[in-house]
Amino acid sequence: MQEYHIPVLLEESIASLNILPDGVYVDATFGAGGHSKPILTTLNAKGHLYAFDQDEDAFDNAFDQPGFTLVHANYRYINRFMKLYKVDQLDGILADLGISSHQIDVPERGFSFRFSSELDMRMNSGSSLTARQVLTEYTEEDLTGIFSDYGEVRNAITLSKKIAEVRKTRDIITTDDFNAILRQCTMGPVQKYFAQVYQALRIEVNDEMNALAEFLQRSMDLLKPGGRFVVITYHSLEDRLVKNLFKTGNVSGELIKDDFGNITRPFELYNKNVILPSPEEQKQNPRSRSAKLRVAIKR
Ligand SMILES: C[S@@+](CC[C@H](N)C(=O)[O-])C[C@H]1O[C@@H](n2cnc3c(N)ncnc32)[C@H](O)[C@@H]1O
Repeated sequence: MQEYHIPVLLEESIASLNILPDGVYVDATFGAGGHSKPILTTLNAKGHLYAFDQDEDAFDNAFDQPGFTLVHANYRYINRFMKLYKVDQLDGILADLGISSHQIDVPERGFSFRFSSELDMRMNSGSSLTARQVLTEYTEEDLTGIFSDYGEVRNAITLSKKIAEVRKTRDIITTDDFNAILRQCTMGPVQKYFAQVYQALRIEVNDEMNALAEFLQRSMDLLKPGGRFVVITYHSLEDRLVKNLFKTGNVSGELIKDDFGNITRPFELYNKNVILPSPEEQKQNPRSRSAKLRVAIKR
């Protein structure tokens, strides 16, 4: 059977989380539990790990042991769930963003241009918006915005025009329907072009940038002084939000001054430069190639 997901930057992220055995932690993106596992192993009977995943499939990997709670929810609601569990402050939060290999590798999830399937791309199969709906219902202008903002697609206008033209005469239902359009619009290397367009659609379908911004901002308030915030990102849009939050305390990166005119900095940076997977890890797990690890310590 194919592996669900290989954890990325595992040693580096766990070491930087500085786990206290009786601490309370959140793994915001449980997946196959690759990062949760070493956290749980380090915790004692007083410690607790709350993990989140919005994908039901991840629940097949859940650990059945005391001190562990897996929440089926979007991490953007971390504050609501911590309130529900009566947790005021956390010793550390880890988030390994993006999608799991399992999500990419299951054809019917519709995340990959390599398989024939319906255009779905929902991480949470209970949510309503699918990639098919985005391509069918969004205006040409909105599609252009998505492709250029979320995928940095160079000819976003041309692509959106083509989609609008095609959908007048036939439905765009499957990856094959969509790939046929992409083949007519591809600029530069084919794989890269397809990957950029599919990434843009996925981000829109799952409202990823808004969810991440809310999660980051709310997590900041939940961390104890000295608490660690460990985030692995996979593309520049995610990384920018994390970098901004860690430097300024807000995701837009705006410098905020206190009543005395001093710039407020809620975090101390653990690493000045991002931590990248070693060449060996990149070779063993090509999906780790775009990963970047940032770590901050709450003041
Ligand atoms: C890269 S995988 C995590 C893999 C995990 N660290 C491991 O090593 O097994 C990302 C996971 O986060 C979940 N996810 C992504 N965005 C989410 C969100 N906004 N809320 C909750 N879960 C999310 C995905 O469903 C996926 O299972």
